[in-house]
Amino acid sequence: MSVTETATERLISPARNILGSLRLPGDKSISHRYALLGGLATGTTRLGNFSTGADCASSLACVEALGAKVTRGEGGSIEIDGVGGRFRATEKPLDCGNSGSTMRMLSGLLAAQQDSFTLIGDESLSRRPMERIRKPLAQMGARIELTEGHAPVTILGAKLTAIDYTTPVPSAQVKSAILFAGLQTDGRTTVRESVRTRDHSELALRAYGANVERSLESVSIEGPQQLQAIQATVPGDISSAAFFLCAAALFPESNLVFDGLGLNPTRATLLDVLTALDAHIGVLNLEEKAGELVGTVQVNAPRDGLSGTTISGALAAQLIDELPVLAAIGPYTKNGIRIRDAKELRVKESDRIALVAENLRAMGAEVVEFEDGLDVPGGQQLHGAEINSGGDHRIAMAFTVAGLRASGQTLIRGAESAAISFPEFFDLLEQVTER
Ligand code: S3P
Repeated sequence: MSVTETATERLISPARNILGSLRLPGDKSISHRYALLGGLATGTTRLGNFSTGADCASSLACVEALGAKVTRGEGGSIEIDGVGGRFRATEKPLDCGNSGSTMRMLSGLLAAQQDSFTLIGDESLSRRPMERIRKPLAQMGARIELTEGHAPVTILGAKLTAIDYTTPVPSAQVKSAILFAGLQTDGRTTVRESVRTRDHSELALRAYGANVERSLESVSIEGPQQLQAIQATVPGDISSAAFFLCAAALFPESNLVFDGLGLNPTRATLLDVLTALDAHIGVLNLEEKAGELVGTVQVNAPRDGLSGTTISGALAAQLIDELPVLAAIGPYTKNGIRIRDAKELRVKESDRIALVAENLRAMGAEVVEFEDGLDVPGGQQLHGAEINSGGDHRIAMAFTVAGLRASGQTLIRGAESAAISFPEFFDLLEQVTER
């Protein structure tokens, strides 16, 4: 390919190896929660290693607009002077950018505040389903208006009533929205889910001093409760590490180590999948920080290539953010990657099933698309191609990884979207890639 890079395009050359040691910026999911709850809490929250992604900057900007004082320091250090339980109404709509987490979880916090608020987002966020938060919050007594199920989200907050709610689709964002409303509501609010989704909200609420009760399939919060500011360091983002872990697993001589990585069991399923694919994963130095598990992870690739696997049921929900990169390395495995029960992928920042299939085909792969997943046969060699990221950060990064094992060069269009979760992605990848 004779194309050159521009500000929005990246040219990826084949790699020989991935070698090195990295410490990653803070986890996106945890950073959102610390920002939103820190905004509501009483006192000054001091955070280290806060996510550098644009999504978490949206959460910070929203709590700032709602009356919290935010001070941004060096190296991911953030201070938030919380509003002490009462957000102020804003003149302008709250801009959630590309961030579904901000829009959905903040809606929960605001539904219990007796004022009106409007939340808007970019083009991609304005296409994403919001009925899933409107329904439970309306059941609690908030008035929430959407346009055909989408943003803008207009919230007329109210004194709410506690509910017992079973989520119809597994979603940590929906669970969190309900718990954040329940935190400020008299009585006991319970959320039940069929698949245990990431539990950062439960852990963050506890870190901020709230009492949260959990059983295997439900979480309850008795409101109202006041949050107290915390000091915490955000663990490295395992969903960002996923791109590097998968890249390293493709090259037999690779050796990659991550220090200070978030290893919350509801997020670390990728390590089990890589092990099932015959990669060697070592975990050391496990510690608990503010309820979150943190540790060192080492990955080595198998000598004779990755095997293959099927991801379905609860696994699909737990790996939802890692599925694009797992599908993108599928052709390089021996037996392929099959994904089912992952319909939610179609309503992420893009339709990730369609875009993964389109881009794998552009690289010469055979792939079968299903409504709820993909079959990516193994034993295929891909060639470089022009990749349509659809402005979706995880598609841009997943196909950068696929490009490392392809023949020829791969041009990632919309590469700047990586900054939504991981602005350092391309630079760090260069640091550990041997050619
Ligand atoms: C997230 C939950 C997941 C995930 C998203 C972050 C969170 O979304 O895909 O990237 O931080 O709670 P859903 O709640 O829509 O499953």
